[in-house]
Amino acid sequence: MTTHKLIIGDSRKMSELKDRSVHLVVTSPPYPMIKMWDELFRANKCKTYDDMHKWLAGTWKECYRVLVDGGICCINIGDATRTINKEFRLYPNHVRITEICEKIGFRTLPYILWKKPTNKPNAFLGSGFLPPNAYVTLDCEYILIFRKGTLRKFFPHDKDRYTSIYTKNERDSWFSQIWDDIRGVNQSNGLINQRTAEFPEELPCRLIKMFSCINDTVLDPFLGTGTTMKVARDLDRNSIGYEINKDYIDLIKRRVEWGKQHLGKEKVHYEIVIRKRKQSKKI
Ligand SMILES: C[S@@+](CC[C@H](N)C(=O)[O-])C[C@H]1O[C@@H](n2cnc3c(N)ncnc32)[C@H](O)[C@@H]1O
Repeated sequence: MTTHKLIIGDSRKMSELKDRSVHLVVTSPPYPMIKMWDELFRANKCKTYDDMHKWLAGTWKECYRVLVDGGICCINIGDATRTINKEFRLYPNHVRITEICEKIGFRTLPYILWKKPTNKPNAFLGSGFLPPNAYVTLDCEYILIFRKGTLRKFFPHDKDRYTSIYTKNERDSWFSQIWDDIRGVNQSNGLINQRTAEFPEELPCRLIKMFSCINDTVLDPFLGTGTTMKVARDLDRNSIGYEINKDYIDLIKRRVEWGKQHLGKEKVHYEIVIRKRKQSKKI
């Protein structure tokens, strides 16, 4: 049996979760300096790039607390370019998050570059074909990978670990640094009147198979439409998702096929907690 718990609340405080109770984090936060997230950051009193990363750091600290020793944290993030006060520059979110996670205590592991296949040539940022004033297009996102402490320990021949084995082809393709075979998804989800920034299922699918075993617990502290939870369930992992926006509840339920049994499995248990200001309500 696997259990899937959706918590509607702010993941900067995951008081529902005990220390060392999660084996893997797979997530994608709101991206600092990307316009679609301006309102959320503004509503949380983040005025500057620094403020935004300080705000997100609250969640990274909690991820560190709840991970088991040897647990892995995978963060999908893109950098941003923006012109402010007539000055165009890069905001390297992946660098900031790496520095912050290292300060928290995480060990940085080699990251993955997710290059979305596209039919379009580079959107040229600059003028004409004359050097030197054009800019390189941001056409990759990062999947940053961190570990809490040293290697995770197992008993010899641990059954769940051996059942979770991947193939040679999977290993050869997934553990290479550039993933250029996963398309992004259409962001205008007809079920909600806003862009969702969801990632394609293949992304959490690979990461969950690479960095967790069946019956482990996978956490997504920025659950969005519920992609990580759905995939974790399909792969026989337990899951926990935090989402701050309660408008997403129906969308997540639909996405996860809430209440439905997993193909051929005996039982799947679903739970929602909607936090009130000072207490949380179970339904
Ligand atoms: C980039 S989206 C995640 C998309 C997700 N990977 C998917 O496939 O749908 C980030 C999500 O985090 C939520 N969020 C932002 N700040 C949060 C916080 N402090 N706690 C919990 N959720 C938060 C946003 O409402 C948004 O749905």
